[in-house]
Amino acid sequence: MTIVSVRGLCKRFGDLEVLKGIDLDVERGEVVVVMGPSGSGKTTLIRCLNLLESPEAGSVSVCGAGLDCGAALSKRAVRDIRRHTAMVFQQFNLFPHMTALQNVMEGPVSVRGLPRAQAADLGRRLLGRVGLGDKYDCYPAKLSGGQKQRVAIARALAMEPEVILFDEPTSALDPELHAEVLQVMRELAREGMTMVVVTHETAFAREVADRVVFMDGGTVIEQGPPSSFFTKPAHPRVRTFLQLVAS
Ligand SMILES: Nc1ncnc2c1ncn2[C@@H]1O[C@H](COP(=O)(O)OP(=O)(O)O)[C@@H](O)[C@H]1O
Ligand SMILES: [Mg+2]
Repeated sequence: MTIVSVRGLCKRFGDLEVLKGIDLDVERGEVVVVMGPSGSGKTTLIRCLNLLESPEAGSVSVCGAGLDCGAALSKRAVRDIRRHTAMVFQQFNLFPHMTALQNVMEGPVSVRGLPRAQAADLGRRLLGRVGLGDKYDCYPAKLSGGQKQRVAIARALAMEPEVILFDEPTSALDPELHAEVLQVMRELAREGMTMVVVTHETAFAREVADRVVFMDGGTVIEQGPPSSFFTKPAHPRVRTFLQLVAS
């Protein structure tokens, strides 16, 4: 079953054409890694998938909730698409004035309408699942970057999304903290979560991705399973890029 379906997606910022007609399908349970040089449109693409950005043309559909981007965005379609997606940002985006548990409870209470006690149970369960069972009452300022990102993943899970979109989830972290976040993501993948992950973590991509999508200049120039993508990329730009991230 196709969870995400994107056709002919175009997005510009003023004169800058950032996405030039992207087509992308993601199947249930699939892990798609998106790579590409800085400025190629990776962040914009995943922000368009949950309509944090409004595309000018093309269509986005998530779990059957579809949207034709040429027309004015229908509020209902936007809400339906957002209900199925959750996002994990490079900079965590936690609420600084809320504890870890309150951060995880916020969406279930305010968006899903869960009673607070039930949201708190869910929050504690999810924080336990990301290895933070002893940090419920910590404020973000007291957590390491890796712990903050794990809270952000628990917060994403609390929305019970059909797909989680990750935007370079480890790139703001010190190198020694990458592993704990990647381990949580690896477990989610193993449990069948559908994930779109912008990352340059090639070891993670080789091990966990079902497919790697490479963007350059607002288009997808190559995609394939990691076995062929990393060993015999067809496009010279992909080869050059892989040499750079490997060195
Ligand atoms: N809100 C914005 N306003 C203007 N330009 C933007 C905005 N967001 C991104 N851009 C530009 O769009 C291009 C693609 O950005 P982005 O999607 O962040 O690329 P990537 O994530 O691959 O580095 C870049 O040239 C960037 O400067
Ligand atoms: Mg980016």
